[in-house]
Parts: sequence; structure tokens; C-alpha cells
Amino acid sequence: MRIGVLTGGGDCPGLNAVIRAVVRRGVEVHGHEFLGFRDGWRGPLEKVTMPLDVRATRGILPRGGTILGSSRTNVMKVEDGVEKVRRNLEELGVDALVAIGGEDTLGVATQLAAAGLNVVGVPKTIDNDLNATDYTFGFDTAVQIAVDAIDRLHTTAESHHRALIVEVMGRHAGWIALHSGMAGGANVILIPERPFDIEKVCDYVEARFARQFAPIIVVAEGAQPKEGTMELQTGDLDSFGHVRLGGIGQVLEREIQARTGYESRQTVLGHVQRGGTPTAYDRVLATRFGLHAADAVHEGDSGVMVALRGTDIVRVPLEEATRELKLVPVERYDEAEVFFG
Ligand code: F6P
Repeated sequence: MRIGVLTGGGDCPGLNAVIRAVVRRGVEVHGHEFLGFRDGWRGPLEKVTMPLDVRATRGILPRGGTILGSSRTNVMKVEDGVEKVRRNLEELGVDALVAIGGEDTLGVATQLAAAGLNVVGVPKTIDNDLNATDYTFGFDTAVQIAVDAIDRLHTTAESHHRALIVEVMGRHAGWIALHSGMAGGANVILIPERPFDIEKVCDYVEARFARQFAPIIVVAEGAQPKEGTMELQTGDLDSFGHVRLGGIGQVLEREIQARTGYESRQTVLGHVQRGGTPTAYDRVLATRFGLHAADAVHEGDSGVMVALRGTDIVRVPLEEATRELKLVPVERYDEAEVFFG
């Protein structure tokens, strides 16, 4: 069997660990051959490939990014996209694909599987917002990076008596903000699932200063004020129709300083959260996903995604995984609220 592998969407610590595990198990246990597709769906669409054997995957376990490259190319936005992919795979002698990606990449994988192609998905996203899996790899690393930053910001906030706002990733789901805010002892956490009241945020800021401590506000990039309370500007759209976010930290910096009189500063963590080496947890999860994805392909399974349920790796229909996003439940946010202010 010849198996193609691709990584799509935003990069994520642990991608290389998945690639290494798929190839190692696929070659050494099942006796298959691999082909790397470059830059997400651009690879199969434009026949951009690279050799992918055990040798090519040596030493990549701790490396961030992806040796295959990534992009946000959307097959469904290209005329005859599905047929082009089918034809190219046939010409290259590729029998099945392992697609490693988030909601967008796996959304395309779902449609290709429905069109009869052999595709197995591996869930990837630092956002942890994919349904049907308890965790995605990359999330633990992103949270740890944010917590390291918050720990450092506490001491500078105290020294300067400033309100410090930390903007983290998460356009639809506030998992990174919730976990890093809880682990980092934030005094306010703002997430997309719960529109915020700027007056309440300022009350928390003042309450914290009243106790002779300086507040840390962790905000997800997709957090929104309650309707009609504050103006936000919108950005450009990518090929999957997502708005390019970023800017809520700046708005909060301005509003908090104007409303409370306390000096405020924002730190936008941005792509630092996606870069560099994965944590041990993410390396193990990514490796286990890779091993199980190789088994799924070997057994002729298609239209499925490997997923973490408790401590087990299971297979779930791709459709179930991509139907809706996994958002932060109300009760999880309520747990954190006791530490606000
Ligand atoms: O989906 C992963 C993610 O890092 C999101 O948290 C973020 O909103 C988005 O990607 C940023 O995308 P880009 O790197 O293309 O600007």
C-alpha cells in the first residue's frame, strides 16, 4: 500500500511526532510505503510531494512545526478540486491519505471520504476545539507557553502597579484562555463563549488593586463584549472564511485605562503559542494518534478520525468530529470565576 500524509491549517507542536509515528508503524509493522504531500491540501491538489520514509523522520520527535509544511488551501474552493485530488492520487499510486489537521483540514477530509477516497484523520489544533476527542495535541504546549508568560507578567504587573492584559489564541473557543488563566492565577478570564461586560471587568481590576495586588486579565482573541457595549473592528477573511483576529487586547488596554485610571498594558502572545518543541504530554498524545492512524489505514478504514476518549485512542466518524466545535461549557467557566477580582 502507498499512503500519503499531509498536515494542514495552522502549525502545531506535535505534528512531526505524528508523522514519525505513522511512518514508523506503517513501514516497520505493516510494510507500507509513504509519500509526503507538501503544504496541506495544496500537495494533493497540485501534486507537490516529498519523499517520506523512516530515514526522513529520524530526529523530528521534539521539533516544532511540520517537515511537510502547511497551508490553509481549501480543496472545496478550487474548481473540480475533489476530482483533481482523486486524479493526482491515482497518478501517484497513492491508495490512502492520512490528513492531520483541525476543523478545516478535517472538514475537507470528510468530504473527500464521502466522495469515495480513503482518508483517515488525525485531530490537531492548539485550540482544543475539535469535537469527539477529549484533547488535541498542541493544546498542552500552547497552555504551558501562555502560563510561562503569565507567571512572568505577574511580577512586572506588581512592580509597576499596572493592569496587564494577555491576549491568547482561540477564535471560537476559549480553552487556551481558560486553562492558562486558571493555571496562571489570572484575575479575569474572557472567552468567546461568554460575552463580557466591560464595567464588570473594570470592577474586578479595581478590586484587585484595592487588595494591593496588580491584576492580570487573560483574554482569548475571539472574546466579544456584550452587544452594544463596545465597538470592535473586524479583519480580513482567510480561504475558509475565518476573520483574522487580534486586537481585543489593545481595545481592553485602552478601555481599562480610560475607565479605571490605572495604567494598563497588553501582551499579545500570538504565534509564540504554536512554535517550538511540544511538551511531553503532547509528544505522547501525538505519537499515539500516529500509531493508531497507521493501523486504521492498514485495516482499510476510511472516513474516520483517531480520537482520545479518557486514556484510550478510539476511531470516530470524521463527520462527527467536524460537525460542531467543542466550546467551553458554562460550568467550566463558572468554576474559574471564583478567582476573579
Ligand atoms: O487554529 C489555530 C490558530 O492558531 C487559532 O488559534 C488562530 O486564531 C489561528 O490559528 C491563526 O491563524 P493564522 O496563523 O493563519 O493567522
